[in-house]
Amino acid sequence: MMKLPYSLALATAGLAASYAAYAATPAVTNAIKARQASYKEIGGAFKSVNDEIKSGSPDMNSVRPLARDLATRAALLPKYFPKGSGPESGVKTRAKAEIWKDNAAFVKLQGDMITAAKALDAAAASGNVAGLTAARNSLGGTCKSCHDRFRAEL
Ligand code: HEC
Repeated sequence: MMKLPYSLALATAGLAASYAAYAATPAVTNAIKARQASYKEIGGAFKSVNDEIKSGSPDMNSVRPLARDLATRAALLPKYFPKGSGPESGVKTRAKAEIWKDNAAFVKLQGDMITAAKALDAAAASGNVAGLTAARNSLGGTCKSCHDRFRAEL
């Protein structure tokens, strides 16, 4: 068997050690799973609101709980992005490393989403269709802005 030069053997051992150091903790893995599950619900709820608006006469009794759910979930999302929960976690995730490099920009977009989801909730409560449509447009804009910059392609 060929013997590794001492320096190379050391480097290999160092690499293994650094991978071990980056293995995701259960808390990080849970945060990734929780945010993906929540975004999935958000995607479904947002689509349902869109379908109601597209129908031309949205059923506000259907829209109200969806809008409330969107607002509640949006407000919780910031705690599901702990440091270490990006690609380096080793867990399957579309969260880009830029989320933690340009964190202020990411946090700003999260704030925009929270504000827009609250406005959607208020518009749904008021029952005004034009207001609901405008709020839907603003909220949809926040999804796209963030995905374009901070979510990896599939
Ligand atoms: C501030 C950034 C940000 C905003 C705003 C945002 N998203 Fe996302 N979204 C992400 C990131 C990052 C992921 C990838 C999460 C992962 O894979 O760990 C994601 C993933 C998703 C997914 C895939 C979930 C899955 O794993 O199955 C859906 C669906 C989704 N978002 C819908 C939406 C919708 C709808 C909105 C707006 C109402 C929205 N998102 C707003 C950042 C954002």
